[in-house]
Amino acid sequence: MTTEQTVGTTRSKGGLEGVIAAETRLSHVDGERGELILAGHRVDALAGTVSFEESVVLLRTGALPDAATAKKTARTIGEARVRAFSRLDPNDPALRYADGMDALRALVARATVEKDRDATIDLVATVGVSAAAWQRARSGGALVAPDASLSHAADVLRMSTGALPTPEAAAALDRYLVTVSDHGMNASTFTARVIASTGSDEVSAITGAIGALKGPLHGGAPGPVLDMLDAVGAPDRAKAWIMGELDAGRRIMGMGHRIYRVRDPRAAVLESGIEKLEKAGIAKGKLALARAVEREAETLLAARHADRSLRANVEFYTAVILDAVGIDRAAFTPTFAVGRVAGWCAHVEEQRASGRLIRPASRYVGPMPG
Ligand code: COA
Repeated sequence: MTTEQTVGTTRSKGGLEGVIAAETRLSHVDGERGELILAGHRVDALAGTVSFEESVVLLRTGALPDAATAKKTARTIGEARVRAFSRLDPNDPALRYADGMDALRALVARATVEKDRDATIDLVATVGVSAAAWQRARSGGALVAPDASLSHAADVLRMSTGALPTPEAAAALDRYLVTVSDHGMNASTFTARVIASTGSDEVSAITGAIGALKGPLHGGAPGPVLDMLDAVGAPDRAKAWIMGELDAGRRIMGMGHRIYRVRDPRAAVLESGIEKLEKAGIAKGKLALARAVEREAETLLAARHADRSLRANVEFYTAVILDAVGIDRAAFTPTFAVGRVAGWCAHVEEQRASGRLIRPASRYVGPMPG
């Protein structure tokens, strides 16, 4: 494939892979080395160390906030959650949609950013409140109003489940949200940037990104990963189960990645979060099963695709960590959006600042007039 890698103009003879769509200071994915850098920090150095709110500031400004700014930002996001909840209609039919991403898309599409409000803060809050409200409505419980004094992770968990989470569970969700906050020019981020590049509004950009994240090849895999772990049931059944899936021509969810040629570095970050939960007496048992399934899947996929390294991606351990903290598997992808909205909004701001329309080219392969 020959590709001219210029920002905004793309000419490719073999497809659009690898084409540079934008310049960004937000994140860098090194697929060969298995490294994810978020605004100058490796993901494993950030997740579990800084809060989700601090990562929102990091992505927007390029620098981690000092303690006072971090506290103020957490409070500002908390107050925005309260406003987002007050705009939510408990009888909104979207809260009863069967699919959580359909619900999130509808609820966010209806959001308005009030004049003189910070769109990023409002959208981070709105996505958290909407995802939690959908899970809560699905469980049949009355919606839980936000508590602005809690961290975003703790409050999202509380609004989702109806109970104040343990500090360990809140920390695990916080680690997850930071881990997935941004990831280069992935499909949903690209979608958000394209919409922002036209001069459209932030709500449209984030609504479009939610639509892109919904697909199973992007953010829709962790629910099926948990289904797989349940179907396998015990480590000694992993090999036969995976062989059966591969023989039937089905893909193993949570394995493989378009960019990474080694194990997704986010898998290790989440895996160590699950270890911490297990030590605290939460999430017992699933980690051993997940590791056994991953081992077998890696071996069997390597035997079938010797030319291709198909290793665990972020979704594999997402399934285990979100299940452990009490997120319903149907709400896994909406919860992914709760973290990723930080990156989407920062990309929207960055794209806007560039003032450039993203307009990729296509390669015409149809007939020419005679
Ligand atoms: N299970 C089984 N086979 C897989 C596989 C998986 N998880 N991922 C890739 N393959 C196989 C494909 O079937 C293909 O085989 P073929 O050449 O015989 O047709 C080969 O590996 C290359 O696949 P390709 O679709 O070109 O790779 P990709 O880079 O486009 O795919 C994903 C990346 C993520 C879409 C893919 O690995 C996948 O579908 N994974 C499962 C879904 C998932 O976990 N998504 C979350 C991503 S973060």
